[in-house]
Amino acid sequence: MRLAYDSAGDGPPVVLLHGFPLDRTIWADQARGLADRYRVVTPDLRGHGGSAAPTGPYPMRDLAADVLETLDAAGVTGPAVVGGLSMGGYVALALAAIAPDRLAGLVLVNSRAGADPDSTRRVREDLAREVERSGSAAAVVEAMAPKLFGAATAEGQPELVREWTDRMGRTPVAGLAGSLRGMADRPDRTADLFRIVVPALVLAGEDDRLIPLEEARRMADALPRGRLEVIPGAGHLAPIENPEATTGALRRFLDSPG
Ligand code: MLT
Repeated sequence: MRLAYDSAGDGPPVVLLHGFPLDRTIWADQARGLADRYRVVTPDLRGHGGSAAPTGPYPMRDLAADVLETLDAAGVTGPAVVGGLSMGGYVALALAAIAPDRLAGLVLVNSRAGADPDSTRRVREDLAREVERSGSAAAVVEAMAPKLFGAATAEGQPELVREWTDRMGRTPVAGLAGSLRGMADRPDRTADLFRIVVPALVLAGEDDRLIPLEEARRMADALPRGRLEVIPGAGHLAPIENPEATTGALRRFLDSPG
């Protein structure tokens, strides 16, 4: 499926994939900060933002195929640096598995390689059923929003928290349910990390309540050319909680991938 996307700048392509249940605008600061030297492509994943929301489930590899089709349509047919936040990282790892020749570099932001434990799978299915039953995103927003922002953001940037919580609430029900079921079914890609030989950056939020710092460190260690950077003052949504530090880390990686 072809996705809605923004493209900024000209140069080596960098694709940034948002998390759940967000949209491409989480990368607005990074696109602005990188576009002087790179072509930054930011799609809305299936079921989110301006892209269509068909009935799910949405396997992560189908979301990766959507991204590839969209890149083809945008004229990005060679390797690109692909980065993803959380669910976007699951999609980036699926893309690395199905089309390694399209990967010039990998960036995992507040994300993980492991699969869901059974308890999380059950919670996701319950949430999917509840949003379908109620026709509203409220159950997902209530479950997720409090865990997404770090303490510094919750205290210091309440407007940002309000704005993004409202936006999450506008995600279509089919998009929420399809993504929840797709994430629940995703495979464990931990063993794949050793085979990803392109330069890789793992970005961790200092105060991410969903992905412990140790887990991010293990991922960076498993990636043959991986490095880890910690974004201060950020929880699970580093690109919007601390945009300057996130853009700076991406910039350093892109300018000298190592
Ligand atoms: C996300 O930010 O994309 C979600 O937290 C991913 C997840 O629920 O596993």
